Amino acid sequence: MKNDKVFVFDTTLRDGEQAPGATMGPEEKLEIAFALERLGVDIIEAGFPVSSPGDFASVQNVARHIKDSCVCGLARSIVKDIDAVIEAVKPAKHKRIHIFLATSSIHLQHKLRKSQDEIVAMAVESVKYARKRMDNIEFSPEDASRTEKSFLYRILEEVIRCGATTVNIPDTVGYSTPEEYGAVIAGICNNVPNIGKAVVSVHCHDDLGLGVANSLAGVAGGARQVECTINGIGERAGNASMEEIVMSLRTRQDFYHLSTNIKTKEFYRISRMVSKATGFIVPPNKAIVGANAFRHESGIHQDGVLKERRTYEIMDPEDVGVPSTEGLVLGKHSGRHAFKDRLKGLGIELPEVDLDKAFARFKDLADKKKEIYDEDLAAIVEDQGHMAHVAYSLADLISTSGTNIAPEVTVTVLYKGKKRSQRSTGDGPVDACYKAIEALTKLKIKLLDYGIKSVTQGKDALGEVTVKVAVEGETVIGRAASTDIIEASAKAYINAINKYVAQQKLRK
Ligand code: KIV
Ligand code: ZN
Repeated sequence: MKNDKVFVFDTTLRDGEQAPGATMGPEEKLEIAFALERLGVDIIEAGFPVSSPGDFASVQNVARHIKDSCVCGLARSIVKDIDAVIEAVKPAKHKRIHIFLATSSIHLQHKLRKSQDEIVAMAVESVKYARKRMDNIEFSPEDASRTEKSFLYRILEEVIRCGATTVNIPDTVGYSTPEEYGAVIAGICNNVPNIGKAVVSVHCHDDLGLGVANSLAGVAGGARQVECTINGIGERAGNASMEEIVMSLRTRQDFYHLSTNIKTKEFYRISRMVSKATGFIVPPNKAIVGANAFRHESGIHQDGVLKERRTYEIMDPEDVGVPSTEGLVLGKHSGRHAFKDRLKGLGIELPEVDLDKAFARFKDLADKKKEIYDEDLAAIVEDQGHMAHVAYSLADLISTSGTNIAPEVTVTVLYKGKKRSQRSTGDGPVDACYKAIEALTKLKIKLLDYGIKSVTQGKDALGEVTVKVAVEGETVIGRAASTDIIEASAKAYINAINKYVAQQKLRK
């Protein structure tokens, strides 16, 4: 009988970060790694160490701090890549190396210009080399789903013989279909003689929108590890979404008879965290974690749900951690105890001194805004986290604009304990504000992207601004929320600059 446990291998920090424009900073990566550990992920692929000194440092940083999940780094079948992973994951309590090498004839002919025999020799050599230095080895024949079956079976048998403990079968270009991919996995389980010595893994891209369906078909075919990302981010159209795969296995336990270690109540929170770190907004209709995933609009549906929830709901929103936005949670007269309790309900526990600061910010917000929702509280805490180690902070902002006057903004920032002010005009108040901040910091800053959305409902809702900026040529993402959108814009810009400054310090 096959094992009924499916290992969850998260690659948000590696394949996810390969999504165009999804660069994350080292602090954000560590914060996400902690959240993945809390979520119960078995393996965290933290990066591709040889690809850049920054990636190496990030993988090492994750390896130093993560204790429960296994920390993995990616390598090509090249000694210098393997050495880089071994060095980067050294501090981890549980570690793995993930070696990949293309096997399809398209890749062999046009990309690698090597014969099948040469590819087998490279794979064997690299797995043997790694196995002498580490016990936990994963091997991926890149573009496996388009690889000739007999060659796929041959290379898998060889790498397992040399010590690979997991064999991952990537549908690298998202070309496969569920029936076909399920058969590829079943074929491997039935035709590779020593397959019982390794865990078979799925890794499906979403180019045809089939990433999750293919992954599930692979699991039904015998795979016991799924590679996936939060919100389905990844190269091109993305990777298979973890929350969709895990909730499918859980909701359809009756069909799959399989389980994972994932604490699903963490999904909503980590989804927002990844969205904020990458600047990729979660579409409202996204399964499991989209804003509309559990909202019923039609009267017939609402009536049905009120009579019996199961008429139109196949999952309980609480099981994926969707916060309640229906009722008013806290207001101006709420006390510190109620505030602490509500945060606890959201899975946020702060040390007393941070709690005091967060409570003061909550009172401040409650003065401006009648109704405080869970999302407002999460925004307060997150904003505060960003303020903990800042180079610049906004001390004051005066903005004047109108239909017949040129927008003018005076910004005052606090830097190294001193206040500095700058007045600027611009094409609009946000442009004027950004010009003032650039002049104050004396840094070369280019705004690449600007987005604003309301965090909660109502005209007094918190506006959350996300900016993507190039500071001295380095892309960073900044975010901030406020009831005043010019203030949120200024704080988001300053947040991005602070991240740049923090990254520079880390490199010294
Ligand atoms: O999609 C892919 O083939 C990959 C490999 C590196 C596993 O991401
Ligand atoms: Zn991939």
